[in-house]
Amino acid sequence: MNDTFLRACRGEKTDYTPVWFMRQAGRYLPEYQAVREKVSFLELCHNPELCTEVTLQPVDIFGFDAAILFSDILIPMEAMNLRLEFHEGRGPVFPDPVRTRKAVDDLLIPDPDETMPFVMETIRLLRRELKVPLIGFSGAPFTLATYLIEGGSSKVFLETKKMMFQAPELYDALMVKITECTSHYLQAQARAGAQALQIFDSWAGVLAPVDFKQFALPYVQSIISDLREMTDVPIIYFANNGTTLLDHCKTSGADVLGLDWRVNIKDAIDRVDDHAVQGNLDPIALFLPKEKLEARIKQLLDDAAGSRGHIFNLGHGIVPQTPPDQARIAVEAVHRFSGK
Ligand code: CP3
Repeated sequence: MNDTFLRACRGEKTDYTPVWFMRQAGRYLPEYQAVREKVSFLELCHNPELCTEVTLQPVDIFGFDAAILFSDILIPMEAMNLRLEFHEGRGPVFPDPVRTRKAVDDLLIPDPDETMPFVMETIRLLRRELKVPLIGFSGAPFTLATYLIEGGSSKVFLETKKMMFQAPELYDALMVKITECTSHYLQAQARAGAQALQIFDSWAGVLAPVDFKQFALPYVQSIISDLREMTDVPIIYFANNGTTLLDHCKTSGADVLGLDWRVNIKDAIDRVDDHAVQGNLDPIALFLPKEKLEARIKQLLDDAAGSRGHIFNLGHGIVPQTPPDQARIAVEAVHRFSGK
């Protein structure tokens, strides 16, 4: 068992810098596309054997130091009693957005083992196969709420912020329900065998710091403090576009803070005290010519040398157009330059 990733999360000394990529299983891989030709995305998410297969693909192909469960942050929202669709080219859609007291009241708090057995089964299957640690994950309540309230992806988050500002009690009621669902969901993943947990706050960066502190952070803190009572698995909190929020993120309770690429990693490390950090290569930097990509990676590793622990990652998900060979070059460079 290669536990380099877990050691880095805990701030322990490692022989080299572990690396994985957000969205490492996905459309940039022909092997993933071959699976997706046969099933829809949601069918894939509900099928433990296929989820196991696509989770393993990037680990086997590139030698990543961690695997991330194949699923989606919106899967537990289905279990809360919401209709979820994925439309080609448009992403996730909730045909019945949650904007009223009745809609919030109608949401269920699911038992994850009963309503999402396929996720727990995937985790158990993966643990039998993997020689690197398995990361489980969820969305953060604010990010999940944006999809529910907007009915899908959004640019300015008008409906979400309107609810925050004009109906704060309704917003809180919705967030409390999402938080409880997420808390149970992550605990179930840890029980099933997930060895680290990442909370994705993909849209945190659209909030003013004052609003992040009031309308997003407390719910994350509550999930993490619940988790601490039942497990010691490392917890990673990734607030995308969240450099302006780092001082608040430090109080999330997570062991590791994920960093997007808009900040110099050295500056971020100076600000996060005793947290380990994860990041933060611009995903589009994978389109640099080989020598320049390698030089960029070398610089990033040097800049991160003073951290309590560094997990190399992209600053956000790998994009579908990325040539797989570029991912291979990057993983090899991280390993070579950091002494593997
Ligand atoms: O490899 C991994 O990282 C694990 C699998 C994973 C997926 N989604 C698979 C996926 C993870 C961890 C996620 C998280 C997720 N899902 C987030 C948070 C991370 C982030 O990117 O900020 C968000 C916001 C979602 C919601 C979501 N799911 C969107 C907006 C989309 C459509 C966008 C797109 O890229 O098409 C998805 C679909 C999705 N989730 C795909 C994959 C591989 C593409 C589905 C396909 O067509 O095959």
